Amino acid sequence: MFKKITVSIVCLAAFACTNEKPQKETNSSETITVQLKDVQTQLTYCYSCHNPKSESHDAILAPPFVAVKKRYMMSYADKEAFVNAVSSFAKNPNQDKALMRGAIGQYGMMVPAPFTEEQLKQVATYLFENEIEAPAWFDEHEKQMHGQMGMGQGKQQSGSN
Ligand code: HEC
Repeated sequence: MFKKITVSIVCLAAFACTNEKPQKETNSSETITVQLKDVQTQLTYCYSCHNPKSESHDAILAPPFVAVKKRYMMSYADKEAFVNAVSSFAKNPNQDKALMRGAIGQYGMMVPAPFTEEQLKQVATYLFENEIEAPAWFDEHEKQMHGQMGMGQGKQQSGSN
C-alpha cells in the first residue's frame, strides 16, 4: 500500500520565500573582470552623491546607481557601449550626453569626476558587471514614479500558484 506524500509543496514554498539579495552576480553572461577593491576609491567618490545608503529620496543628491544603470542598460545594453557612455558622461557631464533629463532638473547637472578615463571605465565596468545595491526606499519610489514606464519589467514575476 502506498500513500501519496505531498510535502514537497511546502519545500517549494520555503524556497520561493528566500529573498536574499545576491551580492555579486552578473546580470548577463559576462564574466566579472573588475572587483570592488579595484574601484573602491572611485566608488566611494560616486557614492557620496549616488548613495545607496541614503535614507530617503529627499536625502540623496543624485539618482541611485541602480536607477542610472537601468536607464543606461535601456540605451546601451552592450557592455562596451555602456562603459563608454557612463565613463564619458562622468568625465564630462553635459546635456547632450545626458539620458536622465528629469534627474538634471531635480538634482542639477553632475560635476565632472576627478578621475582618469581609465579609472572611470573601470568603475563603469564594475557597475555593468555587478548587482548594484538599491537604497531601501527605491522599490517603493520606483513603483510610484516609474511603474508605468515598465522599467521593472521581468524583475519579479509573481508565482504561478
Ligand atoms: C557631487 C555629486 C556627484 C558625484 C560625486 C557623482 N555624481 Fe553622477 N550624478 C550627479 C547628479 C546630480 C546626477 C543627475 C543629473 C545629471 O544627469 O547630470 C548624476 C548623474 C549621473 C549619471 C547619469 C547621467 C545622465 O543624465 O545620463 C551617470 C552615468 C553618473 N552620474 C555617473 C557618475 C559616476 C561614475 C560617478 C563617480 C565617478 C559619479 N557619477 C559621481 C551627481 C554626482
